Amino acid sequence: MALVTVAKLARDAAKGGYAVGAFNLNNMEILQAVIAAAEEERSPVILQASQGGLKYAGIDYIVAMARVAAEQASVPVALNLDHGTSFEQAMQCIRKGFSAVMIDGSKLPLQDNIALVKRVVDVAHAVGVSVEAELGKIGGTEDDIVVADKDAMMTDPDEAAQFVKQAGPDLLAVAIGTAHGVYKGEPRLDFERLAQIKKRVDIPLVLHGASGVSDEAIRNACQMGISKINIDTELRVAFSKTVQETLEKSPNEIDPRKILGPARDAMKQVVREKMRLFGCSGKA
Ligand code: G3H
Ligand code: ZN
Repeated sequence: MALVTVAKLARDAAKGGYAVGAFNLNNMEILQAVIAAAEEERSPVILQASQGGLKYAGIDYIVAMARVAAEQASVPVALNLDHGTSFEQAMQCIRKGFSAVMIDGSKLPLQDNIALVKRVVDVAHAVGVSVEAELGKIGGTEDDIVVADKDAMMTDPDEAAQFVKQAGPDLLAVAIGTAHGVYKGEPRLDFERLAQIKKRVDIPLVLHGASGVSDEAIRNACQMGISKINIDTELRVAFSKTVQETLEKSPNEIDPRKILGPARDAMKQVVREKMRLFGCSGKA
């Protein structure tokens, strides 16, 4: 199958009352773990590349890996730019073959964020690529992007309505209390705010920073209209923990396949569990 848009997967999810998982792609082991999990769970899936992922693997490798995976997969696969930083970067990703882009203007004043997203939307929609935007600031660190806790700011429901109407994105990432990276304490999500945003906005909503959020809160978020959920940190944890364990058990191991293989299996397990939790298992 060719790559599909994130908008298509998220709209199907919104109709079906579940969320699609979006997992960060940095290397072949992560790709194979995510795709194998999607196949085994019969789930649609979103691969996404962050600033750090693009720098580490290179845009051509990211696109080539995602294309091969989508072509061979029997479930729908999308490739999204995660937290895109500029109009130029979004255009580059579209030209290289991404099926979706996120343009993150959340650090900008509202009107500038609207103008940037609209500019990307006008081009992306002309060539069948979907667009995710962000309003409010999600705290924590994701690769190159750092938002200090004091700068994190929840999404305002009225602003969200104005933003979506004027900028026209296909999906909206909302700040309702999650943060990127490992949580210091138990994150508390502002479900009342989510309900208010949902009342005013009729496009699929996205939850970032979902690693470490309790299963109960995730279930609640899915029921309340979150249609795409981003996971990165939990894959990193599964990967590094398993590599460490493998090398502790076999300190003389020199075969990368024997070191990375178990880590790939561990990440697959995490993705399968997330798919069941998000409700996207069996929806392909
Ligand atoms: O954009 C990607 C995510 O929001 C990942 O967040 O690292 O907390 O899972 P996470
Ligand atoms: Zn994010």
